[in-house]
Amino acid sequence: MGIYSTVMETVTEVTGLSPTAFFTILAMMVVVYNLVSGMFLGPEDFRQKEQKETIQVGDIAESELRAYDGSDPKKPLLIAIKGQIYDVSSSKMFYGRGGAYSMFTGRDASRALAMLSFKPEDLTGNLEGLSAEELGVLDDWESKFIEKYPVVGRLDTSLNPSENGDKVQFLDNHRNEHID
Ligand code: HEM
Repeated sequence: MGIYSTVMETVTEVTGLSPTAFFTILAMMVVVYNLVSGMFLGPEDFRQKEQKETIQVGDIAESELRAYDGSDPKKPLLIAIKGQIYDVSSSKMFYGRGGAYSMFTGRDASRALAMLSFKPEDLTGNLEGLSAEELGVLDDWESKFIEKYPVVGRLDTSLNPSENGDKVQFLDNHRNEHID
């Protein structure tokens, strides 16, 4: 008797199942195990990823921040809130090219976030004339970002006297898609 039939007979004797049923169940268990274990990532996985990708940019001008708007895939995605710069690369689906919030990337998005606005003219760090309620909304965004993203620098407004920035370049399809 060959090894093959010995194995098959042993399987039937031990499990009470036909070899086909046994190996089908075994294969399904392996698939389910792989699926379920693939759903979980340990905190280590996230930490390592973040550490690898986070670089400090230090004090930079708003015009320099523009370079981190996702147009160069080798650069991290950065957004400033109240002059503090966050690396939001871990949320590429929001802030990368084609993301629903890509218009904020490479900008100080404070005014837009405070006003819940996607208007190009609100894409600035200028908080003039905002209501207490809007400033409160901005504080909530800031807390969310502090919790979620690493701080990698600050905007140096002395390098950047005009806080209004350019009003061009970021009006892409994704913004319109989001509003629709
Ligand atoms: C039309 C109504 C809106 C809908 C249905 C919507 C929906 C969403 C959803 C589903 C998320 C993902 C939440 C998560 O998984 O953490 C999100 C995230 C976000 N939303 Fe909206 N949103 C809307 C309006 C706005 C507005 C008006 C702003 C600001 C101008 C905004 C800014 C953001 C930002 C910045 C994030 C990403 C936050 C992060 O980095 O975790 N959204 N939104």
